[in-house]
Amino acid sequence: MHEQLVLFGATGDLAAGQVVPALANLLRDRLLPANFRIHAVGKTRFESDAAFHQWLSERIARRAGDACDADALRELLARTTYTSVDLSQPETLAATLKVDPRGGVLSYLAVPPDLFVPIAQGLKLAGLLEEPSRLMLEKPIGSDLASARAINAAIATCVPEARVFRLDHYLGKATVQNLLALRFGNTLLEAVWSRRWIERVDLLVAETAGVDGREQYYSRYGALRDMVQNHMLQMLCLIAMEPPAAMDADTVRDQKLMVLRALRPFTTAMAPGESVRGVYQAGVVGAQPVGGFNQLEGQSVETFVALRAHIDNWRWAGVPFNLVHGKRLATRSTQIVVTFKPVSHWLFEKPNRQQAAPNRLLVRLQPEENIELQLMSSLAGPEWGAMELQSLPLNLSVAPTRRRRIAYERLFLDALNGRHALFVRDDEVEAAWKWIDSIADAWRGADCALQPYPAGSWGPQTAMPFLPSAISGVAHAK
Ligand code: BG6
Repeated sequence: MHEQLVLFGATGDLAAGQVVPALANLLRDRLLPANFRIHAVGKTRFESDAAFHQWLSERIARRAGDACDADALRELLARTTYTSVDLSQPETLAATLKVDPRGGVLSYLAVPPDLFVPIAQGLKLAGLLEEPSRLMLEKPIGSDLASARAINAAIATCVPEARVFRLDHYLGKATVQNLLALRFGNTLLEAVWSRRWIERVDLLVAETAGVDGREQYYSRYGALRDMVQNHMLQMLCLIAMEPPAAMDADTVRDQKLMVLRALRPFTTAMAPGESVRGVYQAGVVGAQPVGGFNQLEGQSVETFVALRAHIDNWRWAGVPFNLVHGKRLATRSTQIVVTFKPVSHWLFEKPNRQQAAPNRLLVRLQPEENIELQLMSSLAGPEWGAMELQSLPLNLSVAPTRRRRIAYERLFLDALNGRHALFVRDDEVEAAWKWIDSIADAWRGADCALQPYPAGSWGPQTAMPFLPSAISGVAHAK
């Protein structure tokens, strides 16, 4: 396990909100090496390491609150030094960083993607990408296929793919990994996991938070590039991929890649019917009045996206995968809903065929992580005619014996140990961008306008058919 982490973007939101708290938790649980050290790097100047520690502790208290153990944080900061440097200048970076490469280091770049290449070049010059050192990149990798390709190609000249870790924190969520256990550990589920028995698949990531404070980044990306290209497509891959022959990283990633390549590209003709893009206006979220999204001048990105994705292969032909994500929606809810087809012949009066709920597998990631299988069942009535069926949830969650790990904890342990399975490969990133580019091009070509929706709603009205029925109130499967 590597003993040194070089943390780029140490003064950013992600470091305070997720990364440092995750590392503090790992330290508290004694899962990091005894000599673990952090070399924090950022542009901001601090008078001393102590000044940086103080500043970061205050920021973490505001951002992560209870999620970060205060004693462990103190111990972690005692092992942390800070360097301020211009990250866009490889030579300066190499000359400024004082890190001993012996034993290998993990360098993690939680910075905008246009800094990936100069930083990697600086690390290479400093000898910090030699075997067994590793490079970990935060999403997004570029902003379209061309920029992702350019980044991947330039990174490949600094460090081989076998030592590159592209982080997508959704892959670190226990419930997302559980999709693999559910699918491939159960005869019952895998036997019905195809177009023959599945009617539709819904992926919803609804957030109540707005863009506030991230306008610079968000106005370049929007909801499609910020969430769908990475987190949502990774979930879709785990749901749709063929069973891998083994669980090693490349075998699993090969199967995910096949799904991405089978996604039907969007065209100008299909964009208006198969997608909705929206932008939030002033409204009320959880009784709080909030303002609308302030686009940076000259930009017009969406804060809401609904897509009907089609996977053109034997398993999924004809099954819609509805992907919906939005900021400032009515509640925070992330869920995957797999809706099965109705039974072939309905025998019961109560409820009648139209009112009968379909079987569903519901995987919730927010606000709670849990999994349930909704099946029809009935208590025997006092007489034959009184039998009434109802949809009952079978709880498939494993009750955690301890606090759930935040996604970054798991991913850091894997990267420090050199395990790749939960990281995204270069070709996956590029295949995902290729599909996303087809959507962006189709929106441009079809002149798909941004549809306003009030903050605190479920998005534009036209997006209702894309939402899971429990939310839209539209009974989809009959
Ligand atoms: C990030 C996006 O990658 O994921 C954010 O940049 C988004 O815009 C966040 O809010 C969602 O992550 P989670 O784990 O809170 O669902």
